[in-house]
Amino acid sequence: MERILCLLIGYAFGLFQTGYIYGKLQHIDIRSQGSGNAGTTNALRVLGWKAGLITFLGDAFKCIFAVIAVHLIFGRMHPELAPLYAMYAGMGAVFGHNYPFYMKFKGGKGIAATAGLLASTLPLPMILICLAAFLVVVGLTRYVSVGSLVVVTLYLIEIVYYGQSGGFGVPEEALWEMYVIAGLLMASAFFKHRANISRLLSGTENKLSVGKKNKS
Ligand code: G3P
Repeated sequence: MERILCLLIGYAFGLFQTGYIYGKLQHIDIRSQGSGNAGTTNALRVLGWKAGLITFLGDAFKCIFAVIAVHLIFGRMHPELAPLYAMYAGMGAVFGHNYPFYMKFKGGKGIAATAGLLASTLPLPMILICLAAFLVVVGLTRYVSVGSLVVVTLYLIEIVYYGQSGGFGVPEEALWEMYVIAGLLMASAFFKHRANISRLLSGTENKLSVGKKNKS
């Protein structure tokens, strides 16, 4: 029951669509421009660097806030399951972001929210490895989609590595649930990036670009 509540709480936090709201304040639906995605990369592409930064922070922090909320609610009851509940909240936040019911389930791809979960669940060196990998891949290829898919894959690997080395301190069965959640997040990210993957294969994927609006 607590797991379902964590998911629902996460989903509720995930509904806050930073990029979409930012665009709407400027009378633009970012889902009708650029890649059509309501996320950081498209906010950057359509509205400029300020919108991209705000979208990333808003979408990452809504996941962090969801993790904090479930910790405050269930942390005392089951302290040994705190990392597991964090992952349920994070998965809920990613799904709330990707499939917001009030936007006809057309949201973003969940990468900034996953980054928020990553920052909430792993130790600093592992966070930095993901950040470095993202920056190197995007720096070399100029494809944010490739960097995003590398990060979600690394996240699964790191969760399993850290879990197997006893880092989370949760019971064995809970560890497997955590691995499954990280796997689902990776699968969901690949599914959400299917159009990007087709474009990558045909050589037509959008390269990283910054829109002119709000540039200064
Ligand atoms: O996080 C989304 C990014 O990986 C791709 O965004 O707008 O190019 O589809 P976009």
